Amino acid sequence: MMALVPYDRSSIPALSKLHDPSVEFHFANRRVRLTQDWNRLGVAAVVWDAAVVLGMYMELGQLELRGKAAIELGAGTGLAGIVAALLGARVTITDREPAMELLRANVQDNIPPDQQGAVTVSELTWGEGLERYPAGGYDVILGADIVYMSETFPALLRTLEHLSSGRTVVLLACRIRYDRDVAFLDMLRQGFTVEEVHYEAQRDVHIYKAAKRQTRQEL
Ligand SMILES: C[S@@+](CC[C@H](N)C(=O)[O-])C[C@H]1O[C@@H](n2cnc3c(N)ncnc32)[C@H](O)[C@@H]1O
Repeated sequence: MMALVPYDRSSIPALSKLHDPSVEFHFANRRVRLTQDWNRLGVAAVVWDAAVVLGMYMELGQLELRGKAAIELGAGTGLAGIVAALLGARVTITDREPAMELLRANVQDNIPPDQQGAVTVSELTWGEGLERYPAGGYDVILGADIVYMSETFPALLRTLEHLSSGRTVVLLACRIRYDRDVAFLDMLRQGFTVEEVHYEAQRDVHIYKAAKRQTRQEL
C-alpha cells in the first residue's frame, strides 16, 4: 500500500510547522490565516509549500485572473484558491469529503464578505461525479501538491480532461519527490502541452503550465 502521506513528518524537522494550529501569509494586500489540523485530517489539513509558491506565482501577475472562472483541485486548506479569489477570480475550491469542513471554515475566514459570492467550496473526488462540473467550463485549473499517489493519476487526468477546454490554463505546483511524479507529467503530455514556467529552489517547487491539445474538430 502506498503511503497516503508524501513525507514521514517526524524525520524532517523543517516540517514541524505542519503541527502549528494555524499559519499566516500575506497575499493581495491581505492577511491570510489558515487553520491546520494535521492530527485529525493529515495531508488535507496543512498548507504545503507548493500552495505558497503557486500563490506567489499568481500574485506576480503571470496569469490574468480578474473575472476568470477557476477551479482548485485537492485544495486542502484552500490557499491557492483563496489567493486566486483575492486576485479577482470566481473560484470553485474542491477536495474530498473529509477535507470539506476545515476547507469551508478557512474560505469563510479569509474571503472578504463582499467577495464570498464569488467563491464556492464543493466536494470533488477526482474522476467521480464529474458531470456535476461543467465540461470545459473553466479558464483556470489550479493544483498544488496533488501529484503524489500513482493510484490517483488516471482519475486526476480524467478530471483535468473533463474540466478543460483548449482555452483552459492548468497550473500545477509540484515538488518532484519520486519517479512516479515525473511519470504523471509524461501521462499528462499525452493529452496536454506541458511547460515548466517557474521553479523556486528554496522550497523546491516547480510550476507546470498545461493546456489541452485541441482535436481537429475544435480548431
Ligand atoms: C499534499 S495535499 C495538498 C493540499 C493543498 N493543495 C496544499 O498544497 O496545501 C494533497 C491534497 O489532495 C487531496 N486529494 C488526494 N487524493 C484525492 C482525490 N482522489 N480526489 C480529490 N482530492 C484528493 C487531499 O485530500 C489533499 O488535500
